[in-house]
Amino acid sequence: MVVSGWLSVLTAAAIPTLISARPHEFRSIQNGTGIAADDFVSIDGFKLKDRQGTVYLTGLNYWSCMNLAADDHVGGNHSRFITELDQMQAHGVNHLRIMASSEGAPTHQPFRMYPALMEAPGAYNEAIFVGLDRCLAEMSKRGMRATMTLANEWQWSGGFGQYVSWATNDSQIPYPSSWNLTAAPQRSEPGTGWGNYTVEGVDAAPYSNFTAYANQFYTMPKCQEWYHAHIDKVLNRVNTVNGRVYKEDATVMTWQLANEPQPAVVPTEYLGPYSLELPAAPEDPIIPWVKNSSTYIKSLAPNQLINVGFEGKQGKWYYQAVHNFSTVDYGTTHCWVQNWGVYDMLNSSFANLDAAKSFATAFVANSSEWSREIGKPVFLEEFGMARNNWENFGKEYPYLSSAGTSNKDNYFTTIIGAAMNDFMSDNGSYVGTCPWAYGGLYRPETQHANAFGEVWAGDPPHEAPGWYDLYDTDEAMNIVHRQQQDIAAFLSKSQ
Ligand SMILES: *[C@@H]1O[C@H](CO)[C@@H](O)[C@H](O)[C@H]1NC(C)=O
Ligand SMILES: *[C@@H]1O[C@H](CO)[C@@H](O)[C@H](O)[C@H]1NC(C)=O
Ligand SMILES: *[C@@H]1O[C@H](CO)[C@@H](O)[C@H](O)[C@H]1NC(C)=O
Ligand SMILES: *[C@@H]1O[C@H](CO)[C@@H](O)[C@H](O)[C@H]1NC(C)=O
Ligand SMILES: *[C@@H]1O[C@H](CO)[C@@H](O)[C@H](O)[C@H]1NC(C)=O
Ligand SMILES: *[C@@H]1O[C@H](CO)[C@@H](O)[C@H](O)[C@H]1NC(C)=O
Ligand SMILES: *[C@@H]1O[C@H](CO)[C@@H](O)[C@H](O)[C@H]1NC(C)=O
Ligand SMILES: *[C@@H]1O[C@H](CO)[C@@H](O)[C@H](O)[C@H]1NC(C)=O
Ligand SMILES: *[C@@H]1O[C@H](CO)[C@@H](O)[C@H](O)[C@H]1NC(C)=O
Ligand SMILES: *[C@@H]1O[C@H](CO)[C@@H](O)[C@H](O)[C@H]1NC(C)=O
Ligand SMILES: *[C@@H]1O[C@H](CO)[C@@H](O)[C@H](O)[C@H]1NC(C)=O
Repeated sequence: MVVSGWLSVLTAAAIPTLISARPHEFRSIQNGTGIAADDFVSIDGFKLKDRQGTVYLTGLNYWSCMNLAADDHVGGNHSRFITELDQMQAHGVNHLRIMASSEGAPTHQPFRMYPALMEAPGAYNEAIFVGLDRCLAEMSKRGMRATMTLANEWQWSGGFGQYVSWATNDSQIPYPSSWNLTAAPQRSEPGTGWGNYTVEGVDAAPYSNFTAYANQFYTMPKCQEWYHAHIDKVLNRVNTVNGRVYKEDATVMTWQLANEPQPAVVPTEYLGPYSLELPAAPEDPIIPWVKNSSTYIKSLAPNQLINVGFEGKQGKWYYQAVHNFSTVDYGTTHCWVQNWGVYDMLNSSFANLDAAKSFATAFVANSSEWSREIGKPVFLEEFGMARNNWENFGKEYPYLSSAGTSNKDNYFTTIIGAAMNDFMSDNGSYVGTCPWAYGGLYRPETQHANAFGEVWAGDPPHEAPGWYDLYDTDEAMNIVHRQQQDIAAFLSKSQ
């Protein structure tokens, strides 16, 4: 859920130890004790609570869940889905951020999850919806709750751009440079990659062109009508596995308006030491859109939580402007050191890693304070780091899984530790972390595109597969697990 070409925008115009016997900790790591349909999470000051007490989110991004969980004939891989859920559960994970939307087009579009949940306005692929039912039913059994993402700024699920295209006679989407799995170089066996980023033509528009096109979504009445119809459809869905209505199932902790909705006002300048901050723009259409959408969802699903899906990179003013509504329950942040030009995955120096760690620590501290000021908790729901890819230099693919992870592990310990310390302090706002993204059994070396052209890496189809994956055997999963154990120990002492 990240933008590889973001810099171009900036310069030119991504056997558990049981510590305590409290039912709450047991539930998240033991088999067989699930989320009761009415055990909703609520906000209590700067903390999340359920019936058992304070909830800390040990999360992972698992955006492809509905497709993986679907039947084989629509490109699913059910056994992989079950294995990966068990792996995540065994590492203490109690929250998954998954897509509850994806949009198709009349002609096959590149860089995208296929098959789509919504093939055309109001037309749904039932087999994919059943996949989403399975995700929620299996998560609920394992004590995991969900963030359900209802739309996307970026092209990898169709997203805003697809809505705008539908509303404008299927006009051509100006795709920014994206990963093309079938471009050179290729391996001898068809369907196994490698590919490269698109560098010319209609599939390599500047990011600013793409966002200008996609952001028409906020104000086009047709788009908003279809988006609201999608919200109705998903919230009122009756799960074919367990019979629960989504809007009445506490497994759905949060409805998220969209993945990384971007400001729509074209900034006159980029501010701050990292040139990421934007000047205040009270007239930005994203602001009334957040108010309108969150008010709408709250009216339909008063027991569940709502967030925006914002990154927070635009600085304090935008962060507070999009979150300061009574219908937005908590804030989110996404921290992307490489995509934002702070870290270079090919640079093995200590100074490079140190810059990333300092940035992340300051970003967590700053955003905690911004959240505190508007009285809301905040969830670190995306961050990632590549493997030691300088070790892949001169090899057949820059993102091979054989590269080590010493930098990533060091960074994960720091950024997860920053959020944990903030959570455990008296004046913090963080309520958990959610790395990007679980790739589980996937490896670039053994990838094989399915009948729909998908490999289902942790990286979505517009980005290099293997870039930000957390594999089942990665040390990052132990860091995630230790987080859950340490927080459980802290909570059992403090409650
Ligand atoms: C499912 O995933 C596993 C693990 O990645 C893989 O070995 C298997 O071939 C996949 N099956 C299908 C039908 O794609
Ligand atoms: C949970 O139970 C299922 C089926 O009973 C089993 O396959 C799975 O390995 C168990 N998971 C854990 C984490 O123990
Ligand atoms: C819609 O697009 C088609 C094909 O590009 C074109 O022939 C047609 O004139 C367009 N219709 C409108 C109303 O713009
Ligand atoms: C991907 O690369 C192939 C081979 O160069 C090319 O034919 C195809 O048009 C490219 N796809 C996109 C969407 O750019
Ligand atoms: C991918 O494209 C870039 C830019 O065109 C090029 O420098 C690089 O060598 C290509 N990667 C591979 C593996 O061919
Ligand atoms: C990007 O947008 C500018 C301004 O509207 C336009 O002149 C340019 O042709 C566009 N470029 C592409 C590749 O779409
Ligand atoms: C949202 O905007 C639409 C028009 O775009 C309007 O009809 C609706 O009443 C608004 N809803 C809320 C909850 O503000
Ligand atoms: C947030 O909204 C409240 C009113 O609901 C207002 O008093 C406060 O100034 C706002 N804060 C910011 C930072 O906009
Ligand atoms: C590696 O990163 C450090 C710290 O940012 C920088 O000083 C150094 O020049 C970089 N080295 C290369 C080869 O880019
Ligand atoms: C954090 O806030 C301080 C003070 O406003 C600012 O100087 C610094 O650049 C910010 N750092 C990050 C990573 O946002
Ligand atoms: C919390 O207090 C510590 C120590 O006084 C301070 O460094 C930190 O900035 C405060 N955090 C917030 C979010 O106010």
